[in-house]
Amino acid sequence: MDFNKFLVFWYSISIYVMILNPLIPFVEPIPSRDHDRSFFDPSCILNCKSDQKPQKNQSRVAATLAPLRSSCEVWSKTCSKTVLSLAKQPETVEWLKRLRRRIHENPELAFEEFQTSQLIREELDRMEISYRFPMAKTGIRAWIGTGRPPFVAIRADMDALPIQEAVEWEHKSKVAGKMHACGHDAHVTMLIGAAKILKIREHLLKGTVILIFQPAEEAGNGAKRMIGDGALEDVEAIFAVHVSHEHPTATIGSRPGPLLAGCGFFRAVISGKKGGAWNPHHSVDPVLAASAAVISLQGIVSREANPMDSQVVSVTSFNGGNNLDMIPDTVALGGTFRAFSNITFYQLLQRIEEVIVEQAKVYRCSATVDFFEREYTIYPPTVNNEKMYEHVRKVAIDLVGDNNFRVVPPMMGAEDFSFFSELVPAAFFYIGIRNETLGSIHTGHSPYFMIDEDVLPIGAATHATIAERYLNEHR
Ligand SMILES: *[C@@H]1O[C@H](CO)[C@@H](O)[C@H](O)[C@H]1NC(C)=O
Ligand SMILES: *[C@@H]1O[C@H](CO)[C@@H](O)[C@H](O)[C@H]1NC(C)=O
Ligand SMILES: *[C@@H]1O[C@H](CO)[C@@H](O)[C@H](O)[C@H]1NC(C)=O
Ligand SMILES: [Zn+2]
Ligand SMILES: [Zn+2]
Repeated sequence: MDFNKFLVFWYSISIYVMILNPLIPFVEPIPSRDHDRSFFDPSCILNCKSDQKPQKNQSRVAATLAPLRSSCEVWSKTCSKTVLSLAKQPETVEWLKRLRRRIHENPELAFEEFQTSQLIREELDRMEISYRFPMAKTGIRAWIGTGRPPFVAIRADMDALPIQEAVEWEHKSKVAGKMHACGHDAHVTMLIGAAKILKIREHLLKGTVILIFQPAEEAGNGAKRMIGDGALEDVEAIFAVHVSHEHPTATIGSRPGPLLAGCGFFRAVISGKKGGAWNPHHSVDPVLAASAAVISLQGIVSREANPMDSQVVSVTSFNGGNNLDMIPDTVALGGTFRAFSNITFYQLLQRIEEVIVEQAKVYRCSATVDFFEREYTIYPPTVNNEKMYEHVRKVAIDLVGDNNFRVVPPMMGAEDFSFFSELVPAAFFYIGIRNETLGSIHTGHSPYFMIDEDVLPIGAATHATIAERYLNEHR
């Protein structure tokens, strides 16, 4: 997602104090020793490395596993705390940081996420989690739970950007000109962390969690292709997170309804007739026609749009001719458009085409307009379902406290998560990575972008809780 584009639209943020849900603790009988053993790795307590020695102190082992025994039939704050304590086990935190650093060092662009995808599959294999691969070239759909409904999905994007990293640190990108400058390395890591937690709690799941690792969020539209390959089969709700430098580390933000704009691009070719500029009546001038089109395009938003419904049309490219003495054959112009509702978005598309084609005609030229629909560069608006938003809000407040949840304003950036949110009830939310001490204060897509890695366990716990609690409450 392009944070630069919506920086301008960032207003001061209100902090809403929310009221905690009534807490109803419920404890199930302690599972048998055999059951314990199924999620007890003998080489350590949780998240083991192959060279680790067994944990022999039975009282330590018991203390670590005790929180896993509460069933959470009725979700309580204790359940959230249990999930959070699993995520915050020192071994888990170290494991998450190692994973994220490995992915950060080896960034891969859209549809080239081969090693990232392999790393994810190795971790899933180690945890004995089943998955389908390949989907959309490098994508993975994994599942944990009963294998029966309800099915809830959580999604991470895997691709990096063609940017040279300018942050000097031990785990800087090792690939020249490529960088995880949007935090998708953290998204992948948090989803693997959630997989670990959910696997440990698999005997408690009241349905099935689908983990979607998708390629190509930044370019090429991996979400659309994942859907084509069956990523949403059986799925009745989906959630995803994006890291944000706007919020302090581990602060969670979202909003009901439209959250991110729909985004499209257009390129028009206006054709006239080449001729000597000293004798203009022998030519048909596409420069004048294109200029008129650019002026008229400004009228769509200023004269036709409801001022309460934010929209943008920007012409960003204008090329034609290279001889100062000749009227050229053609002029190419192009740009981008944004809107928050599906109807407005497609109306803009239609009016851009009409205005260019008709203005060209006024000046005896012809025009064609390409919206790159086949290359999937059209992203519809990302709209949060009210109930799914409410679910995220409840989970967030339980996990990070009401002071660390924010209702955020809509932003002009775009996300291909919108293709999922078009099809099933969905919620997209942010998790903060801003830490002034560390310097993680730069916008996504900046070569100075960095994250506060303390976000990783909290993000993993948030994903896991969203999924487990959804299943509990939607049986
Ligand atoms: C075993 O672990 C418990 C709890 O962490 C600790 O209090 C105790 O001292 C440990 N015992 C040994 C022998 O290390
Ligand atoms: C958005 O509008 C387009 C074109 O009118 C339509 O094909 C699509 O199904 C709409 N999506 C939603 C979620 O309404
Ligand atoms: C920022 O990072 C430093 C170093 O890791 C840490 O000590 C501090 O608690 C962090 N601050 C916040 C607000 O998270
Ligand atoms: Zn991005
Ligand atoms: Zn992104």
